[in-house]
Amino acid sequence: MSPRHFLTLQDFSPTELRQLIQRAIELKTILKQGERYEPLKNKVLAILFTKSSTRTRVSLETAISQFGGNSIFLSPKDTQLGRGEPIEDTARVLSRMVDCVAIRTYAHEDIETFAQYSNSPVINALTDMCHPCQLLADVQTYIEQRGEIQGKRVAWVGDGNNVCHSYILAAQQFDFNLIIATPKGYEPNSALLAAAGDRIQVTHDPSEAVTDADWVNTDVWASMGQEDSHKKRLQVFEPYQVNSLLMSLAKPDAVFMHCLPAHRGEEVTADVMDSQQSVVWEQAENRLHSQKALLEFLLVK
Ligand code: CP
Ligand code: NVA
Repeated sequence: MSPRHFLTLQDFSPTELRQLIQRAIELKTILKQGERYEPLKNKVLAILFTKSSTRTRVSLETAISQFGGNSIFLSPKDTQLGRGEPIEDTARVLSRMVDCVAIRTYAHEDIETFAQYSNSPVINALTDMCHPCQLLADVQTYIEQRGEIQGKRVAWVGDGNNVCHSYILAAQQFDFNLIIATPKGYEPNSALLAAAGDRIQVTHDPSEAVTDADWVNTDVWASMGQEDSHKKRLQVFEPYQVNSLLMSLAKPDAVFMHCLPAHRGEEVTADVMDSQQSVVWEQAENRLHSQKALLEFLLVK
């Protein structure tokens, strides 16, 4: 039987996602109480990353280590994958040795190919298409800070990028309304939008998106792999900066999140990052707890 993978939020049912987030909250308490919980002794997680990472890599390595298991970090430079060994062969070999593989790369199709040939669960640790692990932490953070997410008004301001795509999928799985403000030409994937129906709105006006929002999100204007267009993007995205004036249009108890790394003075101002409404550090910490809940879900039988 082929294993469960976590390539997009749609790989899990809404009920499973809810359970996973509740479990992340419990695992956080267990850790903070100093209890040892090592359900993954002798299990090995391979972390195969083509792009840079701080939070995702460290949360995965810490998660498996706190669970009593081990990780192996593999960059393409160090593996035969980087010298042209096919993804299909790498998947067959790695998954016969390790218990789980987390992959961060460019093309989403590459991770789908890997999963197709893998005997072990595959975790999407970010592709150009989406970043599902980020959404586990983000929804956990919203629920911890403000309670139920169903029916809430969530604003996305900036690029219609991979993280935005995961917000579109999350809106369907967690039943919230999402209003996305992007410049013309930087809208999210149209097929994802079409599948999401009328709980998603797209505008080019950031004020419209943020007005009365319960939760405001942004991300970098140039994602990894888009460095060449960074200068042009700085100009195009200037009206989309999340600053205190824009935040003042949201509900008074709205939260601000950013998956990080942040570029202060570009997509967000320093005062918003440090404001009462900002929960970015709690959000970053929750990458660990949600990653643990995901590993437990996939690997503890
Ligand atoms: N948010 C996020 O995925 O951060 P890293 O790129 O540091 O992993
Ligand atoms: N959109 C960003 C997210 C980084 C966590 C990128 O892909 O670079």
